[in-house]
Amino acid sequence: MKKILITGGAGFIGSHLCDGLITKDYKVTVFDNLDPQVHPERKMPDCINNKVKFIKGDVRDYDALKDAVLTNDCIFHFAAAVGVGQSQYKISKYVDININGTANLLDILANARHKIKKLIVAASMSSYGEGPVRCDKCGIFKPELRRLKEGRVLRRHSYWEIKCPRCGKISFPVPAGEETVLDANSIYAITKKVQEETCMLIGKTYGIPVVSLRFFNVYGPRQSLSNPYTGVTAIFISRIKNNNPPVIFEDGLQTRDFVWVGDVVRACILALESEKADYEIFNVGAGKPVSILEIARILIKLSGKNIIPSITYKFRKGDVRHCFADIRKIKRLLGFKPEISLTDGLSKLVDWSTEADARDHFDSALKELQDKSLV
Ligand code: UD1
Repeated sequence: MKKILITGGAGFIGSHLCDGLITKDYKVTVFDNLDPQVHPERKMPDCINNKVKFIKGDVRDYDALKDAVLTNDCIFHFAAAVGVGQSQYKISKYVDININGTANLLDILANARHKIKKLIVAASMSSYGEGPVRCDKCGIFKPELRRLKEGRVLRRHSYWEIKCPRCGKISFPVPAGEETVLDANSIYAITKKVQEETCMLIGKTYGIPVVSLRFFNVYGPRQSLSNPYTGVTAIFISRIKNNNPPVIFEDGLQTRDFVWVGDVVRACILALESEKADYEIFNVGAGKPVSILEIARILIKLSGKNIIPSITYKFRKGDVRHCFADIRKIKRLLGFKPEISLTDGLSKLVDWSTEADARDHFDSALKELQDKSLV
């Protein structure tokens, strides 16, 4: 039986991965610092599988992490500070946890006598920056990062869309394949890119197979509904549960690729079990673009409440306009196929949220962004 270490395993994706691995008879150790922003109750969440061995520790603590590494065979490295907007003003925090924490792990792999046979790192679609787009006249191109002015309120759709640099026509998003040039647009995205690159480099140097999984926008039960720095689905649900309108940046027609957490867990296990995954980078998404306004509308409908989303027509600095995954590589090499449709997934999420604690701290998080001129 293989022993698996998950750094950050008490988090949203990690907790589901624990269940998936335990169902397959793996022995799982979670190493997590229970960051109060994610775990305000500062204890191991009740949802963590009771077969998990739990170590409370920080990836920046070399000795504690080393002890955990030495007793395991494979590692999922999920520990990270997660929040695109927040990373733009808590720079040293994000660099410290995400880059120095990863460096610590890699130092252990390079210097200690261990038996790690595979390292799987949670990378992010955010490292692509803007996803590729197609101009009907001039073809496909990778747009430059947007430099929109904060505080401007512009309702014209054409203001928000990406224009072809040659002919000026509005272009349309196309899927981002793994070969797409990375062009990180936030400190968070940069740290995720560095995590991926440093893990891959050290893995290749020491012959430890590394797999990088570029997660797109993962959603599902157990997302923190009280953490206003988390992903958009959880923030919107928290707003709706508290009878507040979801607040939408830009015109709401920016798109993302929403992938069900159970599908992500299957992708993780395929990456663990298949040698074809070794030293490869894979997109993990559903492969379909969905607008943020559409997400708000579906969630409001599912909640049965009479709420109208508030569209701000304001730009949150660091956000990209469109990005969705080309998932042909993970389908071809690992046989991955997303199984849950967006409507089914969101409806399961809303069902779960009725019983979950949701304190809406969105307004104070928004104020922090406004004070820093980030929105
Ligand atoms: C998200 C995750 C990131 C992960 C990436 C890929 C967060 C904070 N970000 O980045 O960790 O690596 O997916 O999985 O979890 N929006 C609103 N209103 C809100 C919140 C967001 O309109 O209240 C908009 C944003 O402006 C953006 C879109 O929703 O256009 C998505 O934002 P967000 O959920 O923060 O995700 P990503 O930046 O895509």
